Amino acid sequence: MKTICLIPGDGVGQEVVPAAAEVLQTLNLDLTLVEAEAGFACFEKHGSALPDATLALARQSDAVLFGATSSPSTVVPGYRSPILVLRREFDLYANLRPVFSLPGEFSQPGIDLLIVRENTEGFYSGRERREGDTAIAERVITRTGSERIVRVACEQAMRRSKVRGVPPVLTVVHKANVLKLTDGLFRECALRVAAEFPDIKVNELLVDSAAMKLVKSPQSIDVLVTTNLFGDILSDEASALVGGLGVAPSANLGAGTPVFEPVHGSAPDIAGQGIANPVGALLSSALMLETLGEPDAAGRLRRAVMDTLASGLRTADLGSTATTAQFTRAVCDRLG
Ligand code: NAI
Ligand code: MG
Repeated sequence: MKTICLIPGDGVGQEVVPAAAEVLQTLNLDLTLVEAEAGFACFEKHGSALPDATLALARQSDAVLFGATSSPSTVVPGYRSPILVLRREFDLYANLRPVFSLPGEFSQPGIDLLIVRENTEGFYSGRERREGDTAIAERVITRTGSERIVRVACEQAMRRSKVRGVPPVLTVVHKANVLKLTDGLFRECALRVAAEFPDIKVNELLVDSAAMKLVKSPQSIDVLVTTNLFGDILSDEASALVGGLGVAPSANLGAGTPVFEPVHGSAPDIAGQGIANPVGALLSSALMLETLGEPDAAGRLRRAVMDTLASGLRTADLGSTATTAQFTRAVCDRLG
């Protein structure tokens, strides 16, 4: 019996996580789903965006399925983004963002890549300060942080190579020509760790040319590993190749309870209308099942999502008119 902690959060998180829960229940596995509160609405209600009870429940669970939360763009005293706190509390240093072609003219064909993003340091270390009219952000890169993320990327490259039957290729993305010390250290660590995996072909790309290559020839990329901010930006860019933020899944892995989440945010522009695309949350659930040792169920779920998309049933972000509920029901019907 595995326990999944569901944290819908704010906005469309409240729509796509229940959709995923419905599909998980249809799979008829030995899972207990428990729901917990977090997010901006929770902060306004209880004074905490991630209450202790939620953190405790997440800690005891085998996995967390997280929707999205709304974060203010200005400093709000006492507010901390729940996903950032979870990543730090559980030391979830690896953010895996697979990007693969989906059936439909909204997606480019032939893409099957994985972005491995460092999740705990870089520009997101929370070391920002104001000195009069100057604002300074510190970018923290450590040897430990760099080596462990590249090791995950190499292991993923080896695993994917076995599944796909093609030689593993790792693309290390940095900007060491300008950020000589921080990205210099990341690059040095990456090349050293990758050398422990003699089967892997290693390429390097500066982040600006990586951004271009993702648009021009994404089919040539296998596993891409990079630092926190670059990975955040490149993975949103990559998601646009296969349908956009509504379809992009992710996994946060590390020491503590793994957290799975669609890449998108709370989407306030469409929240409450019942039209959010649940595919990102469903594909995140498939990643979760794989990590929990249920590869068959993960495969069934992924196929049901693919077949539903192929049938032409799609939400508004993919150019059609299906509601969240209609799409979810169609996926359940294929599983039932
Ligand atoms: P967003 O991802 O919420 O929305 C960007 C665009 O994508 C919008 O046009 C939205 O309608 C569309 N979109 C997003 N998810 C969709 C879905 N499931 N189906 C169909 N369309 C979808 O990003 P934005 O607007 O930059 O941020 C909104 C809020 O979300 C902010 O408060 C931000 O801080 C938060 N956010 C939270 C994240 C998290 O909890 N992990 C991640 C990113 C943003
Ligand atoms: Mg992002």
